[in-house]
Amino acid sequence: MPIDPAKLRIEMYPTKVLRTKGKEVEINEETRAVAGRMVELMREAEGIGLAAPQVGLSWRLFVCHVPVHEDDPVDAEIPCSSEEFQVFFNPEIVEFSKDMEGYDEGCLSLPDLTGEVRRPTTVLMRALDFDGNPVELRATGLMARCWQHEIDHLDGIMILDKMTQMARLKNRALIKSFKNMAKG
Ligand code: NI
Repeated sequence: MPIDPAKLRIEMYPTKVLRTKGKEVEINEETRAVAGRMVELMREAEGIGLAAPQVGLSWRLFVCHVPVHEDDPVDAEIPCSSEEFQVFFNPEIVEFSKDMEGYDEGCLSLPDLTGEVRRPTTVLMRALDFDGNPVELRATGLMARCWQHEIDHLDGIMILDKMTQMARLKNRALIKSFKNMAKG
């Protein structure tokens, strides 16, 4: 049965699909319509990224929009934001920088939780864009972080698994309640 994009909603942890590895998708009318709906849901929720498992689909697809900010470095070789939203099908990070950075991340499927996650600063990603063209793109800063966070979702990985020891400690009550929900 074809998916009705209008019926898609953001799923909350601990729903099982968030822990399921996504499958590669074909780019067609249906998957494009889903991507469009995901952009809408991301905007409504005021998020900067949304992955297909977060709308209940085990697909390798995510959308992202880290808007350009006045503090962004001017004429930077590697972008940390984008003018427009981005859609990526079957994405894969093919290069990670050695330098890592910590930053407080949140997730639309984990309400109220934020905590430091350390990640490589700069990445090179291969994917198919909205039109199905292969792209190879580099990003740094918040956009690189967003891509990594969303691709983690496609592998069933969540910030719960990657937060620093300190962040876990700070959020222990909330994490415990999430884990209990996952069991129950
Ligand atoms: Ni997330």
